[in-house]
Amino acid sequence: MDEKIIDGKLVSGLITEEIKNELSFLSITPGLALILVGSNPASEIYVKMKEKKCKELGYYSVIDIQPASIPENELLALISKYNNDVRIHGILIQLPLPKHINEKNILEAVDYKKDVDGFHPVNSGRLMAGEKCYIPCTPAGIHELLLRYKVETSGKNTVVIGRSNIVGKPIANIMLQKAKGANSTVTICHSATKNIADHTKRADIIIAAIGKPGFLKGDMIKVGAVIIDVGINRIEDPSSKKGYRISGDVDFDECYPKASLITPVPGGVGPMTIAMLMRNTLDAALGRIYS
Ligand code: GUN
Repeated sequence: MDEKIIDGKLVSGLITEEIKNELSFLSITPGLALILVGSNPASEIYVKMKEKKCKELGYYSVIDIQPASIPENELLALISKYNNDVRIHGILIQLPLPKHINEKNILEAVDYKKDVDGFHPVNSGRLMAGEKCYIPCTPAGIHELLLRYKVETSGKNTVVIGRSNIVGKPIANIMLQKAKGANSTVTICHSATKNIADHTKRADIIIAAIGKPGFLKGDMIKVGAVIIDVGINRIEDPSSKKGYRISGDVDFDECYPKASLITPVPGGVGPMTIAMLMRNTLDAALGRIYS
């Protein structure tokens, strides 16, 4: 076992077992609707992985695949159907959506009590206010890793690279809260940040979520930093069977020697996203967030 590696695969397996154990004492069937619009190859894989996990846990799951040409009003009607379906406790709209569809209208149409992705403004607002809510799955997974690996975060400098609504903004909000595994001084770097290395060099914890393969180099971090790599970038690779390989946002080989802890890609943050989705869906079925 490599003491420096944060093993997301292992932790996601532990969470799966915890959910199975909890369900064994209950007589409920959590239900999740997975809505996929169009045929983005990465999205298809993610949705299938999510359904597979539902099956493993005995959840009721529906994959609803719609053509990329679906008009917005039809997609809204579909969401309304699942909002009113008592077997469904969680609704997930796989992103990105086709350009003709207004993402905001769609995400706001999901009943916030079934918003297991945490993208509805009620949930993002409550997250910012430090109130109970659904937390987006990838940021929730990062926080869970920091907790389980007992990373000292209170009073530390946490630098988030990337300001997306899916990862950057919510993880920055989580790390800012006066809570366990958080309470950090948070800096968010983005495309307009003048010299990102000035910030990352002072960081105790770096969360890289910008979608640029190998962006974070060894000379941009300090010795002992904790490095969390959220990147899942497809790189063409004719020598691979699939024709591509997956690379993170961190130059692992350069950062590993200086880091005190680091997530690999794959096997770091990635597996945590689905585990947290399953936990959010269980919470939804039990009325733990909103009763
Ligand atoms: N696309 C990329 N990440 C995510 C995610 O966490 N949830 C959804 N619904 N779509 C995504």
